[in-house]
Amino acid sequence: MEVIKKLNEMQTRVSSIKERKETIGFVPTMGALHEGHISLMHNARDENDKLIVSIFVNPTQFDNGDDFKSYPRQLDKDIEIAESINVDIVFVPYAEELFKEGFCTYVLQTKLTEPLCGKFRPGHFKGVTTIMTKLFNIIKPDRAYLGQKDYQQNIVIKRLVRDLNMMIDIKVLPTVRDKDGLACSSRNRHLNPQERSNALCIYNSLLKAKSMYSSSIKDANKIIEEMTSIIKSEEYTRIDYVSIVNPNTLEDVSCINGKAVATVAVRVGDTRLIDNIILE
Ligand code: PAF
Repeated sequence: MEVIKKLNEMQTRVSSIKERKETIGFVPTMGALHEGHISLMHNARDENDKLIVSIFVNPTQFDNGDDFKSYPRQLDKDIEIAESINVDIVFVPYAEELFKEGFCTYVLQTKLTEPLCGKFRPGHFKGVTTIMTKLFNIIKPDRAYLGQKDYQQNIVIKRLVRDLNMMIDIKVLPTVRDKDGLACSSRNRHLNPQERSNALCIYNSLLKAKSMYSSSIKDANKIIEEMTSIIKSEEYTRIDYVSIVNPNTLEDVSCINGKAVATVAVRVGDTRLIDNIILE
């Protein structure tokens, strides 16, 4: 396995892979790899000739400097994990090379970036669409792998690829959960034991949504009310949003006809967690 840090080295390697007509699977990450990332890597490993994983804590997608500073970092361990999955290349770019002095070009997506997390994290998706465009340009993957936990991000990235005519297949794989249901997230390691236990209300609220929907309750507000009360019943939780949205447009639905997504963002202590479940 190679660990490549320099941009021109990465681009040279990609050119030679492309010359050999090998396919590239790409798993973009911010590191602190967990079981969710591992599942993406295994799938990408199976479906492509070459597997490239990027590790880059992208400063432009953090709306809060403290959050960026405290984002978990464990490069040596991440490299070990990648090696154990037979990753071909781990790309760990330097921020100074990706965002050279004078950098002033951003990719701005409207509509899909406005609701949900867009309301609470101004500028976040502009950072995501910009870094993803850059990484896609550098790595030129045939397929990129994302986890369902970041539902809005996935919809945004799929639209980015469609709107800018990038020939990349975006694969979204199911959320990986700990045994008790908490969605794997790099941020979970910020939770103390008390908060870790409080955070279970997030998945419980999603299960409640699923069971209400299954018993033919289609009134989104009724479901949201129940979900909200489950989350509020735990100490140290603060809701950013509890929403039921159209799976494609991310607009709120009032009556669920067909498919919808129940999606939540909750702060548990100082840690912001997101999760979702598809109702269909
Ligand atoms: O989901 C993430 O880890 C990041 O938002 C991503 C997609 C790697 C872009 O920095």
